[in-house]
Amino acid sequence: MDIKKVLNEVTKEIEQSSSQQELQNVKVAYLGKKGKITELLKSLKDLSLEEKKSSGSKLNLLRIEVDNLIKNKFNDLKIEEINSKLKNEYLDISFPPPNSIASKAHPISKTFDEVITIFGSMGYSVAEGPDIETDFFNFSALNIPENHPAREMQDTFYIDDKDKEGKPYVLRTHTSPVQIRTLLNQKPPVKIIAPGRTYRCDSDSTHSPMFHQVEGLFINENANMGDLKGTLIEFCKQFFNVQNLKVRFRPSYFPFTEPSAEMDIAYEIVNNKIQLGQGDRWLEILGCGMVNPIVLENCNVDTNIYQGFAFGVGLDRITMLKYGLTDIRSFFSGNLNWIASNGFTIGDF
Ligand code: PHE
Repeated sequence: MDIKKVLNEVTKEIEQSSSQQELQNVKVAYLGKKGKITELLKSLKDLSLEEKKSSGSKLNLLRIEVDNLIKNKFNDLKIEEINSKLKNEYLDISFPPPNSIASKAHPISKTFDEVITIFGSMGYSVAEGPDIETDFFNFSALNIPENHPAREMQDTFYIDDKDKEGKPYVLRTHTSPVQIRTLLNQKPPVKIIAPGRTYRCDSDSTHSPMFHQVEGLFINENANMGDLKGTLIEFCKQFFNVQNLKVRFRPSYFPFTEPSAEMDIAYEIVNNKIQLGQGDRWLEILGCGMVNPIVLENCNVDTNIYQGFAFGVGLDRITMLKYGLTDIRSFFSGNLNWIASNGFTIGDF
């Protein structure tokens, strides 16, 4: 039995495999049920005890080595295939788009623009934070301690890399970490909105794993729940362009606000179409509340002097409502036809 010869032969065949399919064929030819190495292992039973021992262990080592060589080659081939895909499917995004969709903006881009304009007119400036967050900013500074059920309320995407505290980074599950980043950097009074991308492990017609929120934070010496309600109602009137808007605030729970509420907008279905503002059906569009003093203390804000409110609006949700779109997943499919029929031209802004 010439183990060296088999090893040389199979090594060569592995090296020469140029696709995962070819490599799979080599694997079957050597390690499959009727493969060469499998057959050699089977033939051990005809040998004497002594021969069995020495050839057995050598054959086993051969099997392990070949198995490893194949695994490594599989990895190499996978990387090669991805690289060649990246090269061949390369898209030059600096090229002008085809004429039919020239200058069309995504409905979410239009919403971003309008949200910034409306809150801008109320004196809010725009703050930002990263999409990849630490556990501290996304959870613990917001009074969501470890093992708190609220962590499960938001199905989190964790990242393998760990931060300085040894905790895995997360894709931010809400825009609320920007509250903390802002309060740690800026002395009150604070009046900011933070529009941006957020991520949760969830997907159906009203949930996308990547979605958008706008956070709002107003801290001064006397901001109260009445101000919060007035601000949000005024925002909705302007955004939806409905003056006579029926809304309701329902008590809710968030660890970072106390008391907390959710806001619903009334709607009805007329001729198969959503009509906003009146009727007896309700759609939830945001969470809000008075900032929990624990959060302010976490950011070294003196709670004897300062208080305030915060809110987080689902931007995809209000965009769907405004334009009667029913499937959030179509927003992010990258389908140019969808943009052509649902996008906006500069004149629409
Ligand atoms: N962060 C909350 C969420 O994503 C929304 C929220 C923001 C609630 C601010 C209260 C205050 O569900």
